[in-house]
Amino acid sequence: LRVAVLISGSGSNLQALIDAIESQQLPGVEIVLVISNKANAQGLQRALKHKLPVAYIPWKKREEAEQRISALFQLFQADLIVLAGWMRILSAGFIAQFPQRMINLHPALLPDDSSDSYTTSDGSVIPALRGLHVVERAIEAGLKVTGSTVHYVIPAVDAGPVICRAEVAIDVDETPDTLQEKLKNQEHRLIVEAVRAYAEQGRLVTSS
Ligand code: GRF
Repeated sequence: LRVAVLISGSGSNLQALIDAIESQQLPGVEIVLVISNKANAQGLQRALKHKLPVAYIPWKKREEAEQRISALFQLFQADLIVLAGWMRILSAGFIAQFPQRMINLHPALLPDDSSDSYTTSDGSVIPALRGLHVVERAIEAGLKVTGSTVHYVIPAVDAGPVICRAEVAIDVDETPDTLQEKLKNQEHRLIVEAVRAYAEQGRLVTSS
């Protein structure tokens, strides 16, 4: 399975994939390309350290950037595209080129359907937080639990069939930083799990 990873920042989830591949936890999986929309993304340095091909694609005009990205996917023959901390909205036309071949990590709990709420394992119903700043928003909303979700990318933002997710408790003294760290710890496990399931079972892996 040839994987392309799109990043915008620290790339700790990219690192989790690199580590899993290097420690033989993802047989048959290789990262063939890492793309960032930020020239100074720390994740690019991580990729270079492991001798992975990298590309910096500035995001001035979306159409142009998307054309360059999709040309690179073809050139590097990517089977699966992982959005790992990718902070740009991709157009519906772009997404449609890769049906069930693009997955995203979202730092909140998303339901299996398009509903606006999520039922946690203890039966409480919480809002499904989509879009930006969901770590802060979970604390501000006074939620006791949030989590991370890996899902297929469809044109609607932070929607699409769920592959796997994990719940994370929000403590009374939680700050965005402490919560982000807890979420990332789960994400590093989830993203490896999702890529492994995809590699083993093919495209239609979902939680439901
Ligand atoms: C993750 O928390 C992800 O859920 C969010 O951005 C963060 C990326 O972290 N969309 P990293 O760049 O993989 O360290």
